[in-house]
Amino acid sequence: MKYGLIGETLKHSFSKEIHSLIADYDYKLNEIPKTDIDAFMKSKDFTAINVTIPYKQTVIPYLDEIDPFAKKIGAVNTVVNRDGKLFGFNTDFYGLKSLFSHAKIDVEDKTVAILGSGGTSKTATAVCENLNAKKIVKVSRTKSSDEISYDELYKIAPSIDVLINTTPVGMYPNTDSSPIDLTKFSNLKGVIDVVYNPVRTKLISDALSIGIKAEGGLYMLVAQAVKASEIFLNTTYQDNVLDDVFNKVIKDKENIVLTGMPSSGKSTIGKLLSKKLNKPFIDTDSLIVNKTGKSIPEIFNERGEAHFRKIEKECVYDASLNTGAIIATGGGVVLDKENVSALKRNGKIFFLDRPIERLFPTSDRPTANTEEQIKKRFFERYDIYLSTADHRIQNTGDIEKVVDDILRRV
Ligand code: S3P
Repeated sequence: MKYGLIGETLKHSFSKEIHSLIADYDYKLNEIPKTDIDAFMKSKDFTAINVTIPYKQTVIPYLDEIDPFAKKIGAVNTVVNRDGKLFGFNTDFYGLKSLFSHAKIDVEDKTVAILGSGGTSKTATAVCENLNAKKIVKVSRTKSSDEISYDELYKIAPSIDVLINTTPVGMYPNTDSSPIDLTKFSNLKGVIDVVYNPVRTKLISDALSIGIKAEGGLYMLVAQAVKASEIFLNTTYQDNVLDDVFNKVIKDKENIVLTGMPSSGKSTIGKLLSKKLNKPFIDTDSLIVNKTGKSIPEIFNERGEAHFRKIEKECVYDASLNTGAIIATGGGVVLDKENVSALKRNGKIFFLDRPIERLFPTSDRPTANTEEQIKKRFFERYDIYLSTADHRIQNTGDIEKVVDDILRRV
């Protein structure tokens, strides 16, 4: 391996994709079991690598030189082999620092609470010190001498200006969890979550919903990769490279979620988008049929609408865990706020607004099998479709135009 990433499990890593957008070396993902890491580092059979969990500390004794920030943090995520000598760096530091400036969250003279006590917590401490934070409070469940517990944090919640989550709480596949209840933090000005999958964790959506600036960890991930690539190739990229790569990654990763009334065109348009963008197509109704082995009218007839909604919710959650997919939802999905929150974690919602006179009843749709049903549901739901949407797309029948309109907005 010349360039790449080493770690124990790398299945969910975005790094290969990100590096392919930055430079043209072949970046490989190399899973190394704990028993083999010593031999790998001693062999020095690489040009330049990134290092992830659980080896960011393990690699340090093999280095000939270590960058001062990496030394201070006690973790290395980039190693380059220059003529047989290994040099170690910590570009997570630069990544997190860039994330603060991207999020426009100011730390200078502020009191910052850092959740978690792992490696990234040390990086966050170093960044906050570097940005001249007034006070840094470290919070952990297993509190050590320089940490406080979550209960103690809640007691001093009004004194906290900025909160940083470095724990894995809220990360795929447990995206319904958040490490902390933000309602107690009356003076909070910013929230950073280093988790990048999902793109917006529950913590980030909670913060945004109460008007607090908040940003997830994807920008940090891209920024640390850009910096690592500079070190790999001993070069400096222009300032726009980071934002350009980030915009491409987010466009690639975010789901396009289609909502709207039955027969508003979600499946047809979803399939077209899937072809054009070469992204997988997921239909939540099909997930329900696959899961239950029954048709939707059968589920409604045998167990009723409430049971259908319960299964629908499970399937929407599963669909929401995808990245880079086109998701067509059943017409009633937006009625449940938790469905909407889950779908927004990795996606943007496009409401297909088709005029009522163009919606037609069909016998396989229990909630839209007569004109009266359609009218009733349309008027009950229209405001919900609007208020839950990131984009409203008019569909007056020209499918190509609808697809173009969506593509323009992504
Ligand atoms: C429903 C819409 C249907 C399907 C179910 C319930 C609804 O999906 O989920 O029959 O409540 O509007 P379509 O919108 O794809 O028809």
